[in-house]
Amino acid sequence: MTRHYAGEEIVDHIIISERAIDERVAEIGGSITREHEGHALRLITVLRGGLFFLCDLCRQIDLPLTLDFMAISSFAGGSGGAVRITKDLDDPIEGQRVIVVEDIIDTGLTLNYILSVLRQRRPASLEVCTLLDKDVRRIVDLPIAYRGFSVPDRFLVGYGLDLDARLRNLPYIATVHEDAALPAGPLVVPDA
Ligand code: PRP
Repeated sequence: MTRHYAGEEIVDHIIISERAIDERVAEIGGSITREHEGHALRLITVLRGGLFFLCDLCRQIDLPLTLDFMAISSFAGGSGGAVRITKDLDDPIEGQRVIVVEDIIDTGLTLNYILSVLRQRRPASLEVCTLLDKDVRRIVDLPIAYRGFSVPDRFLVGYGLDLDARLRNLPYIATVHEDAALPAGPLVVPDA
């Protein structure tokens, strides 16, 4: 049965299917497991979009691992304004093998800032794993150890990526129709 998701009508093309995501996440999880064999990992994601990838990825890694979360004020479309940590990690990372897990890297400014903060805390290693890489938009070059898909310079929704804070729950990655907009305000589901 085909599932329906509220707001899905603004989707134009599904560019990465749920199945393709599942398969790629399993491959990346396998690579991480092999390359860090015999070690424990700390997976860190930047709220909020990376949560979905993190949840699926950590279940494809056969190693002892722990999770932690950060949030920062946005770079507001890569304009390069002041940025600050709005939620810091709960635990120290000194001596830990750390992988920062992202849903998408665009300009690279967010991750560049996160990595500079984390490096100062002396992890044993610090790697980047991103599901999507919009590399044509990169401003800051970053070392990416694990990459799911290279994506075009289009506005994307689903699997953590939002439009006006919604549509993160779509199980696929999609483009939206030009001038797409969701109805204002919270979606209200009338009582049956
Ligand atoms: C997205 C994504 C990255 C960042 C990448 O987060 O999760 O953190 O943008 O963009 P950059 O490479 O140009 O810095 P966003 O700011 O949309 O917040 P969200 O995760 O809460 O949706």
